[in-house]
Amino acid sequence: MLTKEQTKYYQQNGYLVLEQCFSAEQMNLLKNAANEIVADFDPNSTRAVFSTEDHSQTRDDYFLSSGDKVRCFFEEGAFDSKGALKQDKALSINKIGHALHQLIPAFKDFSHSDKIRDIALDLGLARPQIHQSMYIFKQPKIGGVIRWHQDASYFFTSPISVITFWLAVEDATLLNGCLQVQSGGAAIPLKEQFLRYPDDSTELRTLHDMPWPDDDSAKPLDVKKGTLVVFNGLLPHFSAANLSDKSRHAFTLHVTCANTQYAKENWLQAEPSILEHLSQTQSLKSQTK
Ligand code: FE2
Repeated sequence: MLTKEQTKYYQQNGYLVLEQCFSAEQMNLLKNAANEIVADFDPNSTRAVFSTEDHSQTRDDYFLSSGDKVRCFFEEGAFDSKGALKQDKALSINKIGHALHQLIPAFKDFSHSDKIRDIALDLGLARPQIHQSMYIFKQPKIGGVIRWHQDASYFFTSPISVITFWLAVEDATLLNGCLQVQSGGAAIPLKEQFLRYPDDSTELRTLHDMPWPDDDSAKPLDVKKGTLVVFNGLLPHFSAANLSDKSRHAFTLHVTCANTQYAKENWLQAEPSILEHLSQTQSLKSQTK
């Protein structure tokens, strides 16, 4: 699937952009499936918001128990001072997480497609397994900032193996808060680790004092609908707030290698979905015959 040049680029830069890897029709299928989930969602069932700035909500069972469920999380700016939604619920949801890849047919088919599996194998995950999926809305005007972070902070394995699959379901531009990644400069070791303790309290532990890259040095990934960005767990990245009047829908998968040790302190402990290679499936079948 990937060329030698592409895998080399990924190894050297920590990320790779696969322009319009998927069709507009495929993206529309995912968007429609997400919209259906939101249509069925009762906005009075929770006030859970998602933020990487404030971790107090992560003690909330609604978030911590969502690893094997499909749940909607609000934008921080979704409510007025009286706690009422400022706009239609369809424009108030930050994201849907975290088991779309297991529970919703359109996302399940996409996530378990040969294309996703082959890319994971080409990038070096010998036994790729999906831990999490998210549909991110980045709503017009209220889509919040996601500060600099590394995804291995949330999916820690020994050795570090997580790769993020970030799919542009809609065009992503600098105006609507596209992904921005570290470009050039020395890679920094894992800076933070998000820990979940047995009593379900959580901590974002700082592991060293090296600074995040300057915002000005980041490379904005202005990409068209259907483009897939893959990046490794140590690549610092962020996205600015969406101040435009266009949403920026994206679908993400976090995939690790089953041959590595998945930390028991990771917040998400739901059973992962193994992405089997055809030859592995065949050899497994022949072994059981
Ligand atoms: Fe991330």
